Amino acid sequence: MSAAPELRIMNDSGELAHEAAELFGWLGQQAIASEGSFRVALPGGSTPQALYRTLAGAEFAGMLDWGQVRFFFGDERCVPPDHRDSNFAMVHECLLNPLKIQAERVFRMRGEDSQPERAAREYEDQLRQEFGTPPPAWPCFDLILLGLGEDGHTASLFPETQALGERTRLVVANEAPRGVTPRLTLTVPTINHAKAICFLVTGNSKADMVQTVLEGRDQDTKSVPAKLIKPENGRLIWFMDPAAASELTIAKQGIVSHEE
Ligand code: 6PG
Repeated sequence: MSAAPELRIMNDSGELAHEAAELFGWLGQQAIASEGSFRVALPGGSTPQALYRTLAGAEFAGMLDWGQVRFFFGDERCVPPDHRDSNFAMVHECLLNPLKIQAERVFRMRGEDSQPERAAREYEDQLRQEFGTPPPAWPCFDLILLGLGEDGHTASLFPETQALGERTRLVVANEAPRGVTPRLTLTVPTINHAKAICFLVTGNSKADMVQTVLEGRDQDTKSVPAKLIKPENGRLIWFMDPAAASELTIAKQGIVSHEE
């Protein structure tokens, strides 16, 4: 039975980045203390950039033994790693390079591969090797960070796409809406086996979709992929600013006191 999501509505995006960095650090310290490493899958897009820069900043740079952190990706665009649309390129600029993370602790999806399906299978093999989880076992990330698209997508699990129904593979290539670069993405079960899943969502443009995902009837999840994200045993946490949370009942009724 999946635990109810923990909703954390911050006063603004800056406070959201700081609170998410605090959680990242706490989960990292716990994982390193108990497992000797912290394995996290990162999203692309614009929202997480503030978190990445906060983690790389003076306040948090000394928070973790970064040498024990293993960086993975939740999805990647099918472009070279130095392309302006590459999730790796953005994370490298905002987080990995400032923290001088050694390349051997960064596991990027090979978006440059002319055969995305081959890149997906290679990444799947890499995950199974790094986590020591041959089939039918599932790798359990310590933390998977996710964003939310206005269309309800998360990672590169877009509405009405083939990847949504995948229940065996860890990683697949997936088509994207017209005009969007084809993608590589972790599958729903891979995400749902994480010990902690954390959405980062800001802005008015996401408010309707946040309400649909968190309070909407259980309609066809193929049209709202983020509704498929229900951890098997882990925690599900939503960090939002007031704008993104503005259509939630709890926000409208003023029940939620923004976290100090
Ligand atoms: C990507 C992300 C994607 C993103 C959402 C939200 O590769 O772009 O993985 O799922 O999280 O599209 O993006 P924003 O944070 O830019 O709104």
